[in-house]
Amino acid sequence: MEAILSKYKTTTLNDVNIWFKVTAVKEFPENGGLCVKYKDKQIAVYNFSRKNKWYACQNACPHKMEMVLSRGMLGDDHGAPKIACPMHKKTFSLETGENLNGDLEAISTYPVKIENGYVFIGFSE
Ligand code: FES
Repeated sequence: MEAILSKYKTTTLNDVNIWFKVTAVKEFPENGGLCVKYKDKQIAVYNFSRKNKWYACQNACPHKMEMVLSRGMLGDDHGAPKIACPMHKKTFSLETGENLNGDLEAISTYPVKIENGYVFIGFSE
């Protein structure tokens, strides 16, 4: 379990040295996510179109280590974006990764940028 989580590390915009091109914006569902594979990582990327924002985080939910967060439900926690795991509804901030309704380990988050109609995730390697 720790081996899975050790692959993921929250990356800030300042840390980014690789922008991975995912796919075209139009391939994403509105107010939904896709799972993206980058090397040995599964990253959940969200098009939060209701807020006109994009977010990315590890796809692994730290509750039972299921690779499911990309299929979670986007929502709002006092103005801050959050994702609810589809399995047991644990929720996580998409800005800080913090578990908002429990004391699970925080999830790792990654910057997203949109350029020329394409989605990119930022990594630090
Ligand atoms: S596996 Fe995500 S809440 Fe249980």
